Amino acid sequence: MSKDRYWRAISIDSISPDHFPSVALYLKSSGNYVLYKAPERMFTVEDQRRLERNFTEFLYVRSGDMELLNEFMESNLTEMLAREELSSMAKGRLLYQTAVNCVIDMFESPEESANLQRCCNIVQHMLQYAASDPHPLASLHTITNHNFYIFSHTVQVTALCLLVHERIYDLAPDELLDMGLGSLVHDYGMTFITNEVLDKNDALTDIEYYKVKQHTQKGYEYLKHSGKYGEVALNIVRYHHERYDGNGYPTGIKGDEIPRSGQVSALCDVYCALIMDRAYRKAISHAEAIRLMGEQTQKGAFNPQLFKQFAEIVNEQKLA
Ligand SMILES: [Fe+2]
Repeated sequence: MSKDRYWRAISIDSISPDHFPSVALYLKSSGNYVLYKAPERMFTVEDQRRLERNFTEFLYVRSGDMELLNEFMESNLTEMLAREELSSMAKGRLLYQTAVNCVIDMFESPEESANLQRCCNIVQHMLQYAASDPHPLASLHTITNHNFYIFSHTVQVTALCLLVHERIYDLAPDELLDMGLGSLVHDYGMTFITNEVLDKNDALTDIEYYKVKQHTQKGYEYLKHSGKYGEVALNIVRYHHERYDGNGYPTGIKGDEIPRSGQVSALCDVYCALIMDRAYRKAISHAEAIRLMGEQTQKGAFNPQLFKQFAEIVNEQKLA
């Protein structure tokens, strides 16, 4: 097992000076974790400035300390998001970090009621943030957390899915919540795939690709069986890799046979994957991602009308 599994990365922006619990923070240096702040010492504004000057983006926490940290961050989220001295960007990052921590636990036990409740709270905060900020995706766009690609990607997809659904459709609050939860676990089926395949930097063999494609159906079956997820959520998990022309998976259904939430999540999933660095390729810009997806739409991959609306919403976000 990689030693990285014992550590969780915490974005510097999400550590609020003078408001951080008694948890040790570590710096990663040449692959080793070096103590930066002992539990009893306060993290100060000076610390933040020093780290910023050194272009340090992340500090690390031992995974065993995460419960305390999560409890602290989640219970303080409402108050932190209301603080006037925090910039909108800092609030977005704080929300993002709290959501990533929550999703990591969700991937461990997606049927546990306490995790579902925590994720519901995160979705509510995301909706509020999206409603109060004219460019709610800007803070997410700058995040690159290589250690936790799947969790970072998940939170980006969720924020975008919520925004798109909220802007285009008149959904009832319960449906929006279900949609947010479904987005947070859309790749849960990846937990059934071995690390050997997931961490591979080279091209996948046909058999490996076949296994990866099963994440949609396997995630869907597991979560459906848990009885904790509604139809909208399950549709996202199952259909987020379907394509409008029928060339997707797992079922190959096409056109508007693909449930609406499946179509929206497919767009969000592709867009968010393109704008993030991967082990085998660099991220591309927002404009390039939209251009590429426009080409794919012309070839039949996405619903043209929906893509047009999607592109308008994302273009409004003033992303680089
Ligand atoms: Fe997926």
